[in-house]
Amino acid sequence: MKAKVGVLISGRGSNMAALLYAARHPSCPYEIVLVAANDPEAPGLALAAAEGVATFGQSHKGMKRAAFDAVIDAELRRAGAEYVALAGYMRLLSPEFVAGWEGRMLNIHPSLLPKYKGLDTHQKALDAGDSHAGCSVHIVTAELDDGPVLGQTEVAILPGDTADSLAARILIAEHQLYSRTLADFVTRERQPEWLLNKVRERALALPQVDEVTSHGMPCFGIEKGKKFAYFTQDRHGGGVIAILVKTTAPEEQAMLIESDPARYYRPAYFGDGWVGIRIDLGDTDWDQIGERLHRSWREVAPRKLTALLNAADEF
Ligand code: GRF
Repeated sequence: MKAKVGVLISGRGSNMAALLYAARHPSCPYEIVLVAANDPEAPGLALAAAEGVATFGQSHKGMKRAAFDAVIDAELRRAGAEYVALAGYMRLLSPEFVAGWEGRMLNIHPSLLPKYKGLDTHQKALDAGDSHAGCSVHIVTAELDDGPVLGQTEVAILPGDTADSLAARILIAEHQLYSRTLADFVTRERQPEWLLNKVRERALALPQVDEVTSHGMPCFGIEKGKKFAYFTQDRHGGGVIAILVKTTAPEEQAMLIESDPARYYRPAYFGDGWVGIRIDLGDTDWDQIGERLHRSWREVAPRKLTALLNAADEF
Protein backbone atom coordinates (compact mmCIF):
# COMPACT_ATOMS: atom_id res chain seq x y z
CA MET A 1 0.00 0.00 0.00
CA LYS A 2 1.29 3.44 -0.89
CA ALA A 3 1.75 6.13 1.74
CA LYS A 4 -0.78 8.94 1.40
CA VAL A 5 0.65 12.43 1.10
CA GLY A 6 -1.06 15.82 1.15
CA VAL A 7 0.85 18.69 -0.47
CA LEU A 8 0.46 22.33 0.57
CA ILE A 9 1.34 25.08 -1.89
CA SER A 10 0.86 28.81 -2.29
CA GLY A 11 1.72 29.47 -5.91
CA ARG A 12 3.41 27.96 -8.93
CA GLY A 13 3.68 24.50 -7.43
CA SER A 14 6.60 23.19 -9.46
CA ASN A 15 7.83 21.11 -6.51
CA MET A 16 4.31 19.75 -6.10
CA ALA A 17 4.37 18.82 -9.79
CA ALA A 18 7.73 17.08 -9.34
CA LEU A 19 6.31 15.08 -6.41
CA LEU A 20 3.20 14.28 -8.41
CA TYR A 21 5.00 13.06 -11.53
CA ALA A 22 7.46 11.03 -9.45
CA ALA A 23 4.42 9.42 -7.81
CA ARG A 24 3.21 8.30 -11.24
CA HIS A 25 6.04 5.79 -11.41
CA PRO A 26 4.71 2.38 -10.32
CA SER A 27 7.59 1.85 -7.88
CA CYS A 28 7.00 5.13 -6.04
CA PRO A 29 6.05 4.34 -2.42
CA TYR A 30 3.75 7.35 -1.99
CA GLU A 31 0.69 8.80 -3.71
CA ILE A 32 -0.67 12.32 -3.55
CA VAL A 33 -4.16 12.39 -2.12
CA LEU A 34 -4.65 16.15 -1.91
CA VAL A 35 -3.08 19.39 -3.06
CA ALA A 36 -4.26 22.32 -0.95
CA ALA A 37 -3.45 26.02 -1.20
CA ASN A 38 -4.13 29.14 0.82
CA ASP A 39 -5.03 30.86 -2.45
CA PRO A 40 -7.78 29.44 -4.64
CA GLU A 41 -6.04 31.01 -7.68
CA ALA A 42 -2.69 29.26 -7.08
CA PRO A 43 -1.58 27.99 -10.51
CA GLY A 44 -0.45 24.71 -8.94
CA LEU A 45 -4.06 23.87 -8.03
CA ALA A 46 -5.19 23.99 -11.65
CA LEU A 47 -2.34 21.70 -12.63
CA ALA A 48 -3.12 19.19 -9.87
CA ALA A 49 -6.80 19.21 -10.81
CA ALA A 50 -5.96 18.64 -14.48
CA GLU A 51 -3.88 15.65 -13.38
CA GLY A 52 -6.86 14.18 -11.56
CA VAL A 53 -5.66 14.93 -8.03
CA ALA A 54 -8.11 16.22 -5.41
CA THR A 55 -7.58 19.90 -4.63
CA PHE A 56 -8.66 22.41 -2.03
CA GLY A 57 -8.16 26.14 -2.21
CA GLN A 58 -9.26 28.74 0.26
CA SER A 59 -7.88 32.14 1.10
CA HIS A 60 -6.60 32.61 4.64
CA LYS A 61 -7.53 36.29 4.52
CA GLY A 62 -9.63 37.49 7.43
CA MET A 63 -9.07 34.31 9.40
CA LYS A 64 -7.02 33.72 12.53
CA ARG A 65 -3.96 31.58 11.87
CA ALA A 66 -5.07 28.66 14.06
CA ALA A 67 -8.60 28.70 12.60
CA PHE A 68 -7.32 28.63 9.03
CA ASP A 69 -4.83 25.86 9.85
CA ALA A 70 -7.69 23.85 11.37
CA VAL A 71 -9.54 24.04 8.04
CA ILE A 72 -6.48 22.77 6.16
CA ASP A 73 -5.90 20.10 8.79
CA ALA A 74 -9.47 18.84 8.42
CA GLU A 75 -9.13 18.69 4.62
CA LEU A 76 -5.88 16.73 4.90
CA ARG A 77 -7.41 14.23 7.28
CA ARG A 78 -10.56 13.91 5.20
CA ALA A 79 -8.39 13.05 2.22
CA GLY A 80 -6.70 10.34 4.31
CA ALA A 81 -3.26 12.01 4.28
CA GLU A 82 -0.67 10.32 6.50
CA TYR A 83 2.10 12.77 5.61
CA VAL A 84 2.26 16.42 4.60
CA ALA A 85 4.73 17.89 2.14
CA LEU A 86 5.09 21.67 2.17
CA ALA A 87 6.08 22.87 -1.28
CA GLY A 88 6.37 26.63 -1.39
CA TYR A 89 3.67 27.07 1.23
CA MET A 90 4.21 30.67 2.23
CA ARG A 91 2.49 30.60 5.60
CA LEU A 92 3.81 30.28 9.10
CA LEU A 93 2.06 27.33 10.71
CA SER A 94 0.32 27.37 14.06
CA PRO A 95 1.86 25.25 16.83
CA GLU A 96 -1.33 23.14 16.94
CA PHE A 97 -1.04 22.29 13.27
CA VAL A 98 2.65 21.42 13.56
CA ALA A 99 2.01 19.27 16.63
CA GLY A 100 -0.75 17.39 14.81
CA TRP A 101 1.72 16.33 12.09
CA GLU A 102 4.77 15.88 14.26
CA GLY A 103 7.38 13.77 12.50
CA ARG A 104 5.10 13.48 9.45
CA MET A 105 5.55 16.82 7.72
CA LEU A 106 8.42 17.78 5.42
CA ASN A 107 9.45 21.04 3.80
CA ILE A 108 11.81 21.97 1.00
CA HIS A 109 13.92 25.07 1.45
CA PRO A 110 16.22 26.66 -1.15
CA SER A 111 19.42 26.84 0.89
CA LEU A 112 21.93 24.53 2.50
CA LEU A 113 20.38 24.61 5.96
CA PRO A 114 21.20 25.67 8.61
CA LYS A 115 22.43 28.52 6.39
CA TYR A 116 19.95 31.16 5.23
CA LYS A 117 16.59 30.43 6.76
CA GLY A 118 13.61 32.52 5.65
CA LEU A 119 13.45 34.48 2.39
CA ASP A 120 16.01 35.75 -0.18
CA THR A 121 18.21 32.71 0.26
CA HIS A 122 19.82 32.98 -3.18
CA GLN A 123 20.84 36.60 -2.78
CA LYS A 124 22.22 35.82 0.67
CA ALA A 125 24.39 33.03 -0.75
CA LEU A 126 25.66 35.35 -3.51
CA ASP A 127 26.34 38.20 -1.08
CA ALA A 128 28.27 35.87 1.20
CA GLY A 129 30.49 34.85 -1.73
CA ASP A 130 29.68 31.17 -1.23
CA SER A 131 31.04 28.72 -3.79
CA HIS A 132 27.89 26.61 -3.50
CA ALA A 133 24.26 27.15 -2.73
CA GLY A 134 21.65 24.40 -2.73
CA CYS A 135 18.47 23.04 -1.26
CA SER A 136 17.42 21.03 1.78
CA VAL A 137 14.49 18.84 2.75
CA HIS A 138 13.78 18.81 6.45
CA ILE A 139 11.23 17.67 8.97
CA VAL A 140 9.00 20.55 10.01
CA THR A 141 9.13 21.63 13.62
CA ALA A 142 7.64 24.67 15.34
CA GLU A 143 10.68 26.79 14.41
CA LEU A 144 10.79 28.25 10.85
CA ASP A 145 13.06 26.29 8.44
CA ASP A 146 14.38 24.28 11.34
CA GLY A 147 14.08 20.60 12.20
CA PRO A 148 16.23 17.62 11.21
CA VAL A 149 17.60 17.80 7.68
CA LEU A 150 16.84 14.63 5.71
CA GLY A 151 18.59 15.46 2.47
CA GLN A 152 20.55 18.19 0.71
CA THR A 153 21.87 18.90 -2.75
CA GLU A 154 24.71 21.34 -3.37
CA VAL A 155 24.50 23.54 -6.45
CA ALA A 156 27.61 25.35 -7.72
CA ILE A 157 27.41 29.12 -7.99
CA LEU A 158 28.63 30.27 -11.43
CA PRO A 159 30.43 33.52 -12.22
CA GLY A 160 27.79 36.04 -13.24
CA ASP A 161 24.98 34.23 -11.41
CA THR A 162 22.09 36.42 -10.30
CA ALA A 163 19.56 35.47 -7.65
CA ASP A 164 17.20 34.47 -10.50
CA SER A 165 19.63 32.37 -12.47
CA LEU A 166 20.77 30.64 -9.31
CA ALA A 167 17.17 30.07 -8.17
CA ALA A 168 16.32 28.47 -11.52
CA ARG A 169 19.22 26.02 -11.25
CA ILE A 170 18.51 25.20 -7.63
CA LEU A 171 14.91 24.50 -8.58
CA ILE A 172 16.09 21.68 -10.84
CA ALA A 173 17.93 20.21 -7.88
CA GLU A 174 14.86 20.71 -5.66
CA HIS A 175 12.70 18.70 -8.02
CA GLN A 176 15.11 15.78 -7.87
CA LEU A 177 15.74 15.93 -4.17
CA TYR A 178 12.20 16.27 -2.85
CA SER A 179 10.58 13.18 -4.33
CA ARG A 180 13.51 10.95 -3.44
CA THR A 181 13.72 12.20 0.11
CA LEU A 182 9.97 11.87 0.57
CA ALA A 183 10.05 8.34 -0.85
CA ASP A 184 12.82 7.33 1.58
CA PHE A 185 11.01 8.99 4.44
CA VAL A 186 7.69 7.21 3.96
CA THR A 187 9.37 3.83 3.58
CA ARG A 188 11.71 4.09 6.53
CA GLU A 189 8.92 3.10 8.92
CA ARG A 190 8.69 -0.23 7.14
CA GLN A 191 12.44 -0.89 7.25
CA PRO A 192 13.47 -3.61 9.71
CA GLU A 193 16.41 -1.58 11.07
CA TRP A 194 14.25 1.44 11.82
CA LEU A 195 11.58 -0.70 13.48
CA LEU A 196 14.13 -2.63 15.53
CA ASN A 197 15.56 0.65 16.77
CA LYS A 198 12.14 1.86 17.89
CA VAL A 199 11.67 -1.36 19.87
CA ARG A 200 15.25 -1.30 21.17
CA GLU A 201 14.96 2.28 22.49
CA ARG A 202 11.90 1.31 24.51
CA ALA A 203 13.08 -2.10 25.70
CA LEU A 204 16.54 -0.93 26.79
CA ALA A 205 14.98 1.95 28.74
CA LEU A 206 13.56 -0.59 31.20
CA PRO A 207 15.64 -1.52 34.26
CA GLN A 208 18.39 -4.15 33.93
CA VAL A 209 17.65 -5.14 30.39
CA ASP A 210 20.05 -6.45 27.79
CA GLU A 211 19.77 -7.43 24.18
CA VAL A 212 20.90 -10.79 22.87
CA THR A 213 20.24 -12.86 19.78
CA SER A 214 18.26 -16.04 20.08
CA HIS A 215 17.40 -18.29 17.13
CA GLY A 216 18.50 -15.43 14.90
CA MET A 217 16.06 -13.01 16.51
CA PRO A 218 17.12 -9.92 18.44
CA CYS A 219 15.52 -10.25 21.84
CA PHE A 220 15.37 -8.41 25.11
CA GLY A 221 15.55 -9.85 28.59
CA ILE A 222 16.48 -9.18 32.15
CA GLU A 223 20.28 -9.36 32.43
CA LYS A 224 21.15 -13.04 32.92
CA GLY A 225 17.41 -13.67 33.27
CA LYS A 226 14.29 -14.31 31.28
CA LYS A 227 13.34 -12.80 27.94
CA PHE A 228 10.32 -10.54 27.65
CA ALA A 229 10.40 -9.45 24.00
CA TYR A 230 11.47 -10.86 20.65
CA PHE A 231 11.83 -8.95 17.40
CA THR A 232 10.77 -11.15 14.54
CA GLN A 233 10.85 -10.90 10.82
CA ASP A 234 9.25 -13.24 8.32
CA ARG A 235 7.81 -15.63 10.85
CA HIS A 236 4.13 -15.19 10.25
CA GLY A 237 3.72 -15.09 6.50
CA GLY A 238 5.86 -13.17 4.00
CA GLY A 239 7.98 -10.29 5.22
CA VAL A 240 5.97 -9.59 8.36
CA ILE A 241 7.78 -7.71 11.11
CA ALA A 242 6.48 -8.04 14.64
CA ILE A 243 7.36 -8.23 18.29
CA LEU A 244 6.44 -11.06 20.59
CA VAL A 245 5.64 -10.09 24.15
CA LYS A 246 4.21 -11.85 27.16
CA THR A 247 0.51 -11.53 27.83
CA THR A 248 -0.56 -10.62 31.33
CA ALA A 249 -3.82 -12.60 31.64
CA PRO A 250 -4.98 -15.99 30.33
CA GLU A 251 -7.57 -14.65 27.89
CA GLU A 252 -5.53 -11.71 26.68
CA GLN A 253 -4.09 -13.34 23.59
CA ALA A 254 -7.51 -14.39 22.27
CA MET A 255 -9.00 -11.01 23.14
CA LEU A 256 -6.34 -9.04 21.30
CA ILE A 257 -6.53 -11.24 18.21
CA GLU A 258 -10.28 -10.86 18.13
CA SER A 259 -10.10 -7.09 18.57
CA ASP A 260 -7.63 -6.56 15.72
CA PRO A 261 -6.81 -9.73 13.77
CA ALA A 262 -4.65 -7.84 11.25
CA ARG A 263 -2.27 -6.74 14.00
CA TYR A 264 -2.21 -9.44 16.67
CA TYR A 265 -1.49 -13.12 16.22
CA ARG A 266 -0.69 -16.30 18.07
CA PRO A 267 3.06 -16.84 17.73
CA ALA A 268 3.98 -20.34 16.63
CA TYR A 269 6.03 -22.32 19.22
CA PHE A 270 5.55 -19.69 21.91
CA GLY A 271 2.29 -20.89 23.34
CA ASP A 272 -0.56 -19.04 24.97
CA GLY A 273 1.47 -16.82 27.26
CA TRP A 274 2.71 -14.71 24.37
CA VAL A 275 1.22 -12.55 21.65
CA GLY A 276 2.62 -11.36 18.34
CA ILE A 277 2.10 -7.69 17.47
CA ARG A 278 2.81 -6.53 13.93
CA ILE A 279 4.77 -3.28 13.86
CA ASP A 280 5.07 -2.95 10.09
CA LEU A 281 1.56 -1.74 9.33
CA GLY A 282 2.55 1.92 9.19
CA ASP A 283 0.16 3.02 11.94
CA THR A 284 1.93 1.62 15.00
CA ASP A 285 1.20 3.42 18.25
CA TRP A 286 4.69 3.47 19.76
CA ASP A 287 3.52 4.62 23.17
CA GLN A 288 1.34 1.57 23.29
CA ILE A 289 4.24 -0.66 22.22
CA GLY A 290 6.29 0.90 25.03
CA GLU A 291 3.50 0.07 27.44
CA ARG A 292 3.29 -3.53 26.16
CA LEU A 293 7.04 -3.97 26.56
CA HIS A 294 6.84 -2.60 30.07
CA ARG A 295 4.06 -4.98 31.06
CA SER A 296 5.86 -7.92 29.49
CA TRP A 297 9.01 -6.91 31.39
CA ARG A 298 7.00 -6.94 34.63
CA GLU A 299 5.92 -10.50 33.90
CA VAL A 300 9.50 -11.77 33.95
CA ALA A 301 11.34 -9.29 36.16
CA PRO A 302 12.46 -10.55 39.57
CA ARG A 303 10.45 -9.29 42.52
CA LYS A 304 13.07 -6.97 43.86
CA LEU A 305 12.99 -5.02 40.57
CA THR A 306 9.21 -4.83 40.21
CA ALA A 307 8.85 -3.96 43.90
CA LEU A 308 11.03 -0.92 43.29
CA LEU A 309 8.87 0.15 40.38
CA ASN A 310 5.64 -0.52 42.27
CA ALA A 311 6.92 1.69 45.05
CA ALA A 312 7.75 4.40 42.51
CA ASP A 313 4.23 4.12 41.04
CA GLU A 314 2.78 5.04 44.42
CA PHE A 315 4.10 8.56 44.03
C1 GRF B 1 10.84 26.71 -3.90
O1 GRF B 1 12.01 27.38 -4.20
C2 GRF B 1 10.92 26.10 -2.54
O2 GRF B 1 12.19 25.71 -2.19
C3 GRF B 1 10.47 27.23 -1.65
O3 GRF B 1 9.48 27.88 -2.37
C4 GRF B 1 9.66 27.66 -3.77
C5 GRF B 1 8.39 27.08 -4.29
O4 GRF B 1 8.38 26.94 -5.68
N1 GRF B 1 10.08 26.71 -0.36
P1 GRF B 1 7.28 26.03 -6.36
O5 GRF B 1 5.92 26.63 -5.99
O6 GRF B 1 7.42 24.65 -5.85
O7 GRF B 1 7.51 26.12 -7.84
